[in-house]
Amino acid sequence: MKLQSLRRAAVGVSAAALLLIGGAPSGHAAEAPVLRDLAAAKGIYYGTAVSASKLNGTYASVVTEQFDSITPGNEMKWGSVEPTRGSYNWSGADAVVDFAEANDQKVRGHTLVWHSQLPSWVENGTWTADSLRTVMTDHIATEAGRYKGRIDHWDVVNEPFNEDGTRRQSIFQTAIGDSYIADAFRAARAADPDAKLYLNDYNVEGINAKSTAMYDLVKSFKEQGVPIDGVGLQAHLILGQVPSTLQANIQRFADLGVDVVITELDIRMTVPPTEAQLAQQKADYKAVTSACVAVARCKGITVWGFTDSDSWIPDFFDGYGAATPYDENYQPKPAYYGIAEALGWTGDTTPGPTGGCAVTYTVQNQWDTGFTAQVTVKNSGTTAVNGWQLAWSWPSGQSVNQAWNATVTQSGSAVTATNASYNASVAPGSTVTFGFNGTLSGANTAPTGFTLNGTDCTTA
Ligand code: XIL
Repeated sequence: MKLQSLRRAAVGVSAAALLLIGGAPSGHAAEAPVLRDLAAAKGIYYGTAVSASKLNGTYASVVTEQFDSITPGNEMKWGSVEPTRGSYNWSGADAVVDFAEANDQKVRGHTLVWHSQLPSWVENGTWTADSLRTVMTDHIATEAGRYKGRIDHWDVVNEPFNEDGTRRQSIFQTAIGDSYIADAFRAARAADPDAKLYLNDYNVEGINAKSTAMYDLVKSFKEQGVPIDGVGLQAHLILGQVPSTLQANIQRFADLGVDVVITELDIRMTVPPTEAQLAQQKADYKAVTSACVAVARCKGITVWGFTDSDSWIPDFFDGYGAATPYDENYQPKPAYYGIAEALGWTGDTTPGPTGGCAVTYTVQNQWDTGFTAQVTVKNSGTTAVNGWQLAWSWPSGQSVNQAWNATVTQSGSAVTATNASYNASVAPGSTVTFGFNGTLSGANTAPTGFTLNGTDCTTA
């Protein structure tokens, strides 16, 4: 933990040093927001589900730099840790907890008791109420006990309700009965008294029959002294469908005296996404994050995978995808800036490329009163540009009268070319080209001093 703080401090210093060496950019510093820092300033955490096997390279760098909480996507599920009775595999779970500790991150343990991804020996076993209760509480003692003191939150019971608010007929419900949830929470408290204990479910984000059943159960637990610290709202949402009662729902749980967290946020859309869908997704991520920020007992948000290359959505929802804040190449999408804005970030949502850009300006044709020019902009930096404005100033009185592959406006000698909808994104290393016809008055001196979203470009 201390090591990591040093590491992060060192990164900050070298980034500042680089800026100094490169000279301050003329427009603005093309600095990406850091979600974990913005969230901390709002008193919450920002987390992501991770896959233990992917915790290296760029994936690990983004997880470390942007998030201060991680959740193993699968590695702590019963079927992962004890596939056959009495033989354990902790490698994935250990890797995630070790990674978190090395990087100053909290861990959400997910999950102790769930009807799904259960080992067959549990799911298809023959049980009495007592025998399954013993197996369940032993499992909790073993797993929560193994990580005692190292887990911030445990999802003790996951998805116990049907949509109408009745109990899901899981093996635990059918063999043990209604009391299994309280039994599980008591066992978790005994195994790790410092972990915050959560009840987690989906489709409980707005006020509805299912979330009301959850509310009633939490209320009864509080009345009976069953140990519970919070509720998790998974928030596997569909584009444009953030429930209007989300904040009120968070508030009503807070008023019961429990914490609330968003545990598995993703917002899926039909693929391939359009610019309009990505803009809606930005608004949706912003709305969810804002609702949490607005309620003091909402302690944090976890996205269920931070990159579209590590998301369960395409496998589980036919025709849907693009549900996370980063694209498949680890480039931030508009959604990422929506989160940052909800966390109080006021920077430029379309920063220039970190590391610069290069412009090739070519006059292709020229006559007495006019000319045709082509402009190629290369993203020579390391971050994508999503939506761009290339600005320059005419040195010898030229003006633009007709452009293609960009919209060009001019005021005095200052020119701004804005992307078309189909060429808005410029990945690191790639180029975008547009052209225009201009008018001349005398010389046709080529412009220099181009800026891309405020970042200085070199001119070839
Ligand atoms: C998902 C994982 O992301 C997938 O990799 C796995 O194949 C299935 O489970 N609700 C939950 C999570 O509580 O554990 C689920 O995770 C997604 C739905």
